[in-house]
Amino acid sequence: MRFGNNGSNRSHISSVKTVRSVLTDTRTHRTHRTHRIRQTRPSLVAMCGIVGYAGQRPAIDVVVGALRRLEYRGYDSAGVALVGRAGTLSTMKRAGKLAVLDEALARSPLPEAGTGIGHTRWATHGAPTDPNAHPHLDESGTVAVIHNGIIENFAVLRRELEDSGVSMASETDTEVVAHLLARSLSDGADLAQAMRQVVGRLHGAFTLVAVRAGEPGRVVAARRNSPLVVGLGEGENFLASDVSAFMDYTRTALEVGDDTVVDLTADQVVLTDPAGRPVPRREFTVDWDLEAAEKGGHEYFMLKEIAEQPKAVADTLLGRLGPDGRLVLDEMRLSESEIRDIDKVVITACGTAFHAGLVAKYAIEHWTRIPCEVEMASEFRYRDPIIDRQTLVVAISQSGETMDTLMALRHAREQGARVLAICNTNGSTIPRESDAVLYTRAGLEIAVASTKAFLTQLVACYLVALYLGQVRGTQWGDEVAANVAALSDLPAKVDRVLETMQPVRELAKDYAAASSVLFLGRHVGYPTALEGALKLKEIAYMHAEGFPAGELKHGPIALVEAGVPVFVVVPSPRGRGSLHDKVVSNIQEVRARGALTVVIAEEGDDAVVPYADHLVRIPASPTLLQPVLATVPLQVFAAEMAALRGFDVDQPRNLAKSVTVE
Ligand code: G6P
Repeated sequence: MRFGNNGSNRSHISSVKTVRSVLTDTRTHRTHRTHRIRQTRPSLVAMCGIVGYAGQRPAIDVVVGALRRLEYRGYDSAGVALVGRAGTLSTMKRAGKLAVLDEALARSPLPEAGTGIGHTRWATHGAPTDPNAHPHLDESGTVAVIHNGIIENFAVLRRELEDSGVSMASETDTEVVAHLLARSLSDGADLAQAMRQVVGRLHGAFTLVAVRAGEPGRVVAARRNSPLVVGLGEGENFLASDVSAFMDYTRTALEVGDDTVVDLTADQVVLTDPAGRPVPRREFTVDWDLEAAEKGGHEYFMLKEIAEQPKAVADTLLGRLGPDGRLVLDEMRLSESEIRDIDKVVITACGTAFHAGLVAKYAIEHWTRIPCEVEMASEFRYRDPIIDRQTLVVAISQSGETMDTLMALRHAREQGARVLAICNTNGSTIPRESDAVLYTRAGLEIAVASTKAFLTQLVACYLVALYLGQVRGTQWGDEVAANVAALSDLPAKVDRVLETMQPVRELAKDYAAASSVLFLGRHVGYPTALEGALKLKEIAYMHAEGFPAGELKHGPIALVEAGVPVFVVVPSPRGRGSLHDKVVSNIQEVRARGALTVVIAEEGDDAVVPYADHLVRIPASPTLLQPVLATVPLQVFAAEMAALRGFDVDQPRNLAKSVTVE
């Protein structure tokens, strides 16, 4: 059951109070409440970090600490609202990173409180200004709301409210919720009822969290197609966009299904459906290592996460091969006969996860002989893909919340396809809505640019390919075991690559001023090249392109001029026929045109030596598995370039880690 639109378009606003009886952040309101802001274009807010707390600790410490953990989700503004034990509501919000809010709170601390909500914002439209930052209040200042997502019909609601005399303080879609909640409350609803009534009128995707003056100890939330999870503590409870926010306090979490309202106090958490009926609860344990949330001596999370890759790969392989030699997935709601009936695999994902999917295609087709397509999730449903009950759709997502991937998954299920999720986040939406799940065990990844999650996605893709091959009999147990053994060698090999990265860091110094960097590869080297280029774009803000090396001559070679750095991922000379030699020819082609070549090649591959301006060695491995090793120098190069060029390696401009809008 979804929250319906009850059609009641009552436009009366009962008792619109103009007196702000509560303690609020006066700077914001003095500047902006006094004149009505004209709505020129929607200010849509998405991919934000959300947190709520009720308990005995100082709520400000819990909320700001949790926001720090969530800042990777969005970082253009931040704010908090607290309800003190006497019921006083106080708020503070600032444009800019969390540090700006921190300073403001240090200068003018908010009164003590045991209940609070907090928000870090990533705006898709509209300026990240103080008034657009969350929380948003109703006119009387008694209800504070934070929001992640988009309220698609907010313009209609806003007009309705304005026609009734409500004055808006921000350009956001979120603010309408504060006013609508206030209206329901003044009509006699309690906070949870009001939340149900309001979300029944909203279209779009959202997580909303609200507190109310005069109701200390209570936080109410609702979600539709946007992440929200509950943390269950002893005499305290938490709400957050993801579990990293409350990992410091509790490892017990509660899933929150779509179209659910959460009514939370320090002692109890009530989940209800849109009609107010209790919904089934599913608890899970968070096994992420707390150290993952700290930089552990590294300058950036990204560098730490690159360094953690051997462990992440090893953890992802751990226990996946059952005692009888059969591969074990985490959640399997598909029978072996259903798997045998599959006649096509379609992989869908975004960004880095899409590149893992491209690698998976080579492995799946080679090991299982099942045709495999890979589609960017944002395009998937718009091309009316041909899928049915015999199609296995594999959705790959680190966060498990990427809206494009979720919508592709839902479209696939509507067409009857089976969906297998490869995901790093327990309790997230994508695995919950899938028929089978293989969790990558990268642990918490904080840097926006994905590194260890990517390597574990590759490993998970290999495991899925082997699993399919095993069930369908295209690979015998001993072949699977040999491949699993080759996979088991990877952690130590990744370690070896990491030990030899100093020359790659030095190389970045030579190229920090380059205007463009090209990446070439064939076979699985092609997605590796794409990933190398993506990393550089994401964090070093450089023009970078990845090409299939063979495609070079059909256009991209025109980009090659004297001094252009070109990375070439060279396949194993022991592998597939002429693949290696063809790539060596491609290196010569770009070099002949003045490119500076950075060649990533297997140890012992001497054929490349004459054509490499810089040679990066990686350990020998089966060709299909090579991306796990060849990607590492590309990650290190990108991180070093970003740092040298003076950019924030972990929080690149304009990006967010978890993209919960389409
Ligand atoms: C965003 C991030 C990318 C990430 C992509 C997919 O665009 O900036 O780094 O690869 O989302 O994320 P997911 O969580 O679905 O793997």
